Amino acid sequence: MRIVLAPMEGVLDHLMRDLLSRVGGYDLCVTEFVRVVDLLISDRAFFRACPELTNANAYGCTTEAGTPVRVQLLGQNPTCMADNAAKAIEFGSHGIDINFGCPSKMVNNNRGGAILLKDPEDLYQIVNAIKQTVPAEAIVSAKIRLGYEDKSLAIENAQAIEAAGANELTVHARTKMEGYRPPCSLGMDC
Ligand SMILES: Cc1cc2nc3c(=O)[nH]c(=O)nc-3n(C[C@H](O)[C@H](O)[C@H](O)COP(=O)(O)O)c2cc1C
Repeated sequence: MRIVLAPMEGVLDHLMRDLLSRVGGYDLCVTEFVRVVDLLISDRAFFRACPELTNANAYGCTTEAGTPVRVQLLGQNPTCMADNAAKAIEFGSHGIDINFGCPSKMVNNNRGGAILLKDPEDLYQIVNAIKQTVPAEAIVSAKIRLGYEDKSLAIENAQAIEAAGANELTVHARTKMEGYRPPCSLGMDC
């Protein structure tokens, strides 16, 4: 079993990653999401989101305590996501995590995050573009919710991500409409 320190925008920055990984018990940290629109993200922006990249060595980037760190990207344009994923890997990120769960209205209105759960083909295109672009050994993980309004596409979405070649899948077991309200459950209907 592996324990991953979940990303939390505005909460789990590099200082928190440093603190919590010193306490120990985590196998991997995932950064807060880095928003990808239609440009290659600047080096500075990458280092701001993930200062651990500046200390990356041949084994990649880690917290001071030695816990690997993976950059999370959030975006909707497959080519642009792939180019930025390749850049993050070059800088030493331990793989790439893709955010398909963000419920923010502003992000969703710009076709990013959980809105993509409405069409498994969109998920496929993004994951596939990234897998085709990063080195074969780079781990690509995706994080989904169970759906946008309902859970009817949960399995299809997971299958699309698998078919596109993702290595790992994280499920935040709520729909976008459920926000962060309890309960958080896979349920029996999906
Ligand atoms: C304030 C806040 C910020 C979050 N930011 C991110 C994020 O940047 N990327 C991500 O994949 N998940 C993000 N999440 C989702 C969490 O990582 C987690 O998957 C979710 O809250 C489910 O856990 P819970 O049932 O304990 O809330 C965020 C959650 C909260 C509450």
